[in-house]
Amino acid sequence: MTNICVIGTGYVGFTASVCFANLGNDCIGVDINSDRVKSLNGGIPPIYETGLRELLEINLREKRLYYTTELKEAVKESEVIFICVGTPENSDGSVDLSQVYSVAESIGKAMNKYKVIVNKSTVPIGTAEAVKNIIKKNYSGEFDVVSNPEFLREGAAMKDFFNPDRIIIGTESEKAAEIMKHLYKAVERVENPIIVTDTKSAELIKYASNAYLATKISFINEIARYAEVVGADVTKVAKGMGLDKRIGSRFLHAGIGYGGSCFPKDVKGILYSAKSAGVELQIIKAVDKVNHEQPEFVLKKILLALKTTKGKKVAVLGLAFKPKTDDVRNAPAETIIKKLIEAGVKISAFDPVAEDNFKKIFPQIEYFSNPYDTAKGADLLFISTEWDQFRDIDKKRLKSLMKQPIIVDGRNIYEPNEMKKAGFEYISVGRK
Ligand SMILES: NC(=O)c1ccc[n+]([C@@H]2O[C@H](COP(=O)([O-])OP(=O)(O)OC[C@H]3O[C@@H](n4cnc5c(N)ncnc54)[C@H](O)[C@@H]3O)[C@@H](O)[C@H]2O)c1
Repeated sequence: MTNICVIGTGYVGFTASVCFANLGNDCIGVDINSDRVKSLNGGIPPIYETGLRELLEINLREKRLYYTTELKEAVKESEVIFICVGTPENSDGSVDLSQVYSVAESIGKAMNKYKVIVNKSTVPIGTAEAVKNIIKKNYSGEFDVVSNPEFLREGAAMKDFFNPDRIIIGTESEKAAEIMKHLYKAVERVENPIIVTDTKSAELIKYASNAYLATKISFINEIARYAEVVGADVTKVAKGMGLDKRIGSRFLHAGIGYGGSCFPKDVKGILYSAKSAGVELQIIKAVDKVNHEQPEFVLKKILLALKTTKGKKVAVLGLAFKPKTDDVRNAPAETIIKKLIEAGVKISAFDPVAEDNFKKIFPQIEYFSNPYDTAKGADLLFISTEWDQFRDIDKKRLKSLMKQPIIVDGRNIYEPNEMKKAGFEYISVGRK
């Protein structure tokens, strides 16, 4: 059992706090958002994630876990302190480290004995060193700073915590490495090992991994553009490519581009920090450009199919940046919907869990609780997120409700021939 403190209780910190407590550790979650802290102590998660509500309830009840706004007390009581605050993008693409640095300073001021300070937030190379220096300015005793990047996928956060592909521990201290290995022992498997490395390599592993996954997505989106012109089917191309074990089938789904709170900012983050170090990352630069263009590429299909925007209504299915999450940060749907509204199009929308978050950006949209009410009277239906419940939709019912049977499928979830047979004008990505 280790006394742990997790600072920041968003997607990463909330998951870590609940899961570490569930492994038998005493865990304190800290956040500056007092409403969030109050809800968490009442058993209400700040995010939608399968299984985490139940684990939160169990661990609160069994008194291994509580949440507070009092960072100082929480740090004093803990041996391992995880920094899980946000690292958003600045307008120039650089990483805003103000939350990390402010927390580091508060930790430094609260230190009372040896502790391991763990950076779980995604941060540029050299941040562990910067955090160490900030703490040193405020505390003269012994401590270690570790880089332990997080790889969880929203929508599968709990599963990923307990079954990680790997655990990266970046540290220059053997003592800290042993403490971290002990902490993660319960989730380590032969095939999912703990990798101990230096802090800079650990920081770069995170950025390089996200940039590589983003590369696969932009790569297949670029192939989709080509496939469309020459009459090939990108889904078949991706399948044929992905079966090659050297390539792998994951992240080869053409669509409206990657979104979310990580890939867009991390791609820009690695570009910016490499540039600051005098290195131009040309492939990653192209990945960013292709992704920037992709929602526009799909928007053009919508506008072309609508012919004119005046008096038109588009029904949107899916608002979250991907299925099984309520996160709408940098959702490609946002770009497309914004442009459609600007063009005078009326929008109706449905998402199984992300409506409340999307409403904060677009209160003017008409929201519905199922796909059919959403599609009623629509001139076009746009599939923006590939939620499972859209896959086997009642096509006959859908067609009877729409004003015009046009579907623009931004996620390629239907078979073109089936949709044609069902009487739809069906437009997808990378398929004629
Ligand atoms: N969301 C993901 O899927 C994911 C996956 C891997 C890595 N990451 C990285 O993890 C980090 C956190 O991401 P997130 O999505 O959990 O962020 P988030 O925005 O959901 O949560 C951050 C939390 O930190 C709190 N916070 C900010 N300043 C604070 C302070 N001074 N003291 C206490 N709490 C404070 C905020 O109130 C908020 O609750 C980022 O660096 C992100 O890039 C995110």
